Amino acid sequence: MKPIHVALLGLGTVGEGVYQTIQTHQDRLQQVTGRPVHISAILIEHPDKYTHLDKEITITTDIQTILQNPDIDVVFEAIVGIEPAFSYLKQCIIAGKSIITANKEMFARHGFELKQLAQKHDTTLGYDATTAGGIPIIQTIQQLLQVNQIHKIQGILNGTSNYILTEMREQHTSFEIALEQAQTLGYAEADPTNDIEGYDALYKLMILSELTFGEQPDWADIKRIGISDISAADLANSQTAEEKIKHIATIQQIEGKLHAAVEPISVTTTHPLYAIEGVDNAVYIETDLIGNLTLTGPGAGALPTASAMLEDFCTLFSKKISTINKVLA
Ligand SMILES: NC(=O)c1ccc[n+]([C@@H]2O[C@H](COP(=O)([O-])OP(=O)(O)OC[C@H]3O[C@@H](n4cnc5c(N)ncnc54)[C@H](OP(=O)(O)O)[C@@H]3O)[C@@H](O)[C@H]2O)c1
Repeated sequence: MKPIHVALLGLGTVGEGVYQTIQTHQDRLQQVTGRPVHISAILIEHPDKYTHLDKEITITTDIQTILQNPDIDVVFEAIVGIEPAFSYLKQCIIAGKSIITANKEMFARHGFELKQLAQKHDTTLGYDATTAGGIPIIQTIQQLLQVNQIHKIQGILNGTSNYILTEMREQHTSFEIALEQAQTLGYAEADPTNDIEGYDALYKLMILSELTFGEQPDWADIKRIGISDISAADLANSQTAEEKIKHIATIQQIEGKLHAAVEPISVTTTHPLYAIEGVDNAVYIETDLIGNLTLTGPGAGALPTASAMLEDFCTLFSKKISTINKVLA
């Protein structure tokens, strides 16, 4: 049986998760897709780091190696930042390959363009892993939108900032100590700016906005306030047992206009995001038909993110949904 040949762009936390999961879940993937899944090539930046990999896999720093291999059907992208990821994915689509990305910053900026390009070249595009890690939020919203109208989405979309606020509240630690702990545990990067200043949550919110409302608000109009100015005393003073400060991303349509914000806000026990603690993420959705829905789960990490990417992969091959990007058109 002819294998499905795939390539990985990036072999860091997420790429390694995809690599491992393809090995450990080969039988399961084969059952769903009907074919063995073979990793043909991996593109990275520092090839010297990767001497331990299976010798049959081509390790490259040159995207042409992947573009010019007609056997490669699907490209999983898990590089950090907008470039070169965006340029690489455009070239992959033009070469007729399906793409599955985890890259939120790149997709928040250029997702629309990639969706249009994929449609033009009749390839598919999966991006569930860009938003809320292991929570299947993109496929859930696609499913809901077939019948429902969505008015509002609120989420805790960054596990690092949620972890820091939880530690500060429960352990009465300072912001600096909670951040240090998050870094020691591998939840926060050496440069934590994207997480603690709300940029990471903003990228995810913009991806949800594009999917749900077909557009993004002007980024310059979005209120974005991080958590770095919150002190343990602020948390203690501003909350009672029935109130907590959470870092929440909101997008809603009011009288036809989109309003978005990423900011610390105080929520009470009845709020669906009140109980979300530690590194977990959650997304709350208000719709016209089903009412309200909240999904909670791990928002990052190698295996939850790999799971989201491989779910997109299975959707693509099992054709349970005709194609991922056709739903988005
Ligand atoms: N970490 C998570 O839990 C998580 C969750 C959801 C989404 N994401 C997104 O997934 C993406 C990857 O995150 P990560 O945590 O896996 O990052 P990471 O651990 O830093 O790994 C990045 C990988 O990309 C490769 N790379 C970087 N620049 C490259 C270039 N110019 N050409 C070729 N390869 C390049 C690196 O190669 P070398 O190894 O050779 O340096 C490395 O293998 C990011 O966009 C992130 O926002 C991450």
